[in-house]
Amino acid sequence: MSEEARLVEWLRAARRVIAFCGAGVSAESGLATFRGAGGLWEGHRVEDVATPEAFEYHPELVWRFYAARQAALQEVEPNPAHRALAEMEAHYPEFLLVTQNVDNLHERAGSLRMIKLHGSLMEVRCTECQRVTPIDRPVDLGAEEEPALPRCRCGGLLRPNVVWFGEYLNPAHFEEIGTFFRQCPLPGSTGAAGGTLLLVIGTSGAVGGGYGLTTQARRYGARIVEINPELSALSLDVDLALREPAGQLLGRVWPQVRS
Ligand code: APR
Repeated sequence: MSEEARLVEWLRAARRVIAFCGAGVSAESGLATFRGAGGLWEGHRVEDVATPEAFEYHPELVWRFYAARQAALQEVEPNPAHRALAEMEAHYPEFLLVTQNVDNLHERAGSLRMIKLHGSLMEVRCTECQRVTPIDRPVDLGAEEEPALPRCRCGGLLRPNVVWFGEYLNPAHFEEIGTFFRQCPLPGSTGAAGGTLLLVIGTSGAVGGGYGLTTQARRYGARIVEINPELSALSLDVDLALREPAGQLLGRVWPQVRS
């Protein structure tokens, strides 16, 4: 049986699906990944644009980096991978989307039940009152010579509502992921075999070692599938790997499952 046929079989057999996603899911939409060729970290030093220290000393530089990413996001659309994941939410009795992506392509494809581990590019947060506000267009810093940093109505400086290197993630996210797995039938019990599926899609696993999702999935007897044209730091943890772009693969495979 081909890997693709096995994926179709496993997607058909699953009752509970959790998807762990990274920048690769948005690559076919035209958004740069971080570590691939032409990735964001090739053109920028993390410590210059994605740390609290960078924002403290060079808020304008940081804001120009994020405003450019916000502008790029306006130019792209969700791809078949985003749409398949959004449809899976309605198809499976239990589904959870865990994404590291700060873009809003999952939401624009219709995903609702999701955890955004690293925050949202189209939200700003006040560094004083901590108010979080969604935005519908890129932050405008004005002319190079006299940049106008964005301010909250309380007067506080606004920052992108994303998690920077050196910052903590929201523990409630991991509580919710833990709850999803704890509700899975334990291996050997009724409905366990093949019932739970972890999809690892488009992530290098370079950050947080995949946040322990493959370990939890293994503990609860889940099948683990990786969709990534290249090997990742999580590849040794998976049962099945599809070395193909996610949009191309899920665009072809998902219609065979949902029908
Ligand atoms: N389909 C599936 N996977 C793809 C595709 C595609 N079309 N194109 C690239 N990939 C894979 C690459 O092979 C790589 O393994 O996506 C992965 C992207 O890896 P990274 O650039 O490291 O992105 P990610 O894993 O999401 O990074 C994690 O690091 O920089 C921080 O906060 C940032 O959320 C990000 C985190």
